[in-house]
Amino acid sequence: MKTLDLVLPDTRYPIHIGQKLLGNIELITPHLKHPRVAIVTNTTVAALYLEPLLTALEQAGIDCLPVILPDGEDFKTWATLNQIFDALLGAHCERSTTLIALGGGVIGDMTGFAAACYQRGVPFIQIPTTLLAQVDSSVGGKTAINHPHGKNMIGAFYQPKAVIADMDLLDTLPERELSAGLAEVIKYGLLGDADFICWLENNMAALRKRNKQALAYAVEHACKMKGAIVAQDEKEQGVRALLNLGHTFGHAIEAGLGFGTWLHGEAVGAGMMLAAEASHQLGWLDKAQVERVEALLKQANLPTQSPALGIARWLELMSHDKKVENGEIRFVLLKDLGHAIVAKLPAAILEQTLNSRFVLHTQ
Ligand code: NAD
Ligand code: GLY
Repeated sequence: MKTLDLVLPDTRYPIHIGQKLLGNIELITPHLKHPRVAIVTNTTVAALYLEPLLTALEQAGIDCLPVILPDGEDFKTWATLNQIFDALLGAHCERSTTLIALGGGVIGDMTGFAAACYQRGVPFIQIPTTLLAQVDSSVGGKTAINHPHGKNMIGAFYQPKAVIADMDLLDTLPERELSAGLAEVIKYGLLGDADFICWLENNMAALRKRNKQALAYAVEHACKMKGAIVAQDEKEQGVRALLNLGHTFGHAIEAGLGFGTWLHGEAVGAGMMLAAEASHQLGWLDKAQVERVEALLKQANLPTQSPALGIARWLELMSHDKKVENGEIRFVLLKDLGHAIVAKLPAAILEQTLNSRFVLHTQ
């Protein structure tokens, strides 16, 4: 097991990365104020991993309240969040109760938000069970639910007490979800580490075969990069916005098609392709570099063409992006492979991008 230490102005926490970590409650107990936890998970993950976690905790004398939510991005809502509060209040959970998020990014984001709000704040621990959650959503303290007008629009910055990323849990992850996680892994290379792009090109096959060493290296590298960015800019006043590479286009795809139609990682993958194309139109990336991004996404079995939403709809959806400033949409674009910046896009270039071959235009 490797442990990274994420140090922020007001808190610090460990990110444990390794195998056979789910039953290792020594990674959990130091963070409990009181021997009582609520394990928030969903129907799919509960069937796979709730029992071993519950058994290990109960054997150590920890009182556990399982809270099992419906599965899916379309359940990342007020109504589902309220189910967590109903369960906590119904069981008389006090402020000393720790919430444990056992699941992917949807469960992690909702549990974190519930922890931020319940009795004005209770501790929580992240046990991410998808690659996407291990490399991105479990680290950094962004918590949220969706609103019909936009993705992750209601939420809070609220840091966990610990993150426990167990590579063994990825064995059961469906192929499509693994690829969705790889989109966020690729994101780190594109936004800030050209050497990591080369590593990914050479190791994509191993990652897709779920080689544990390759996965652990990718998770560690991504968490190191994310940790360094979050440590500089916890509340996204500057550099943290770079972590949204592909997300302005991607969130529009998710909301435009209806949450859950495309996976978040798939939408981010197609969104990064559009960001690369826009960067090419601006003269920053050459054609070969755009093709390299396309090839890497294809190696990860990700879509490289976005659905055609229609220019007016794209603009309407992207106008809800959290990077909008004085009504102007700002994008994360690529000055070079491994060097992202936040910039505005001239309307003509945006239109050209949305009319490019990276949008699937149907006749
Ligand atoms: P998800 O949570 O919906 O999980 C994907 C699917 O895999 C679900 O059906 C889930 O039940 C299933 N699953 C989870 N673990 C499994 C396992 N080990 N074996 C088998 N099945 C498993 O989706 P996700 O891709 O993990 O997360 C996407 C969400 O994360 C989005 O809502 C996105 O907005 C959010 N996100 C948040 C941040 C952040 O910084 N907070 C960053 C990136 C993404
Ligand atoms: N996934 C974007 C962020 O954490 O800032």
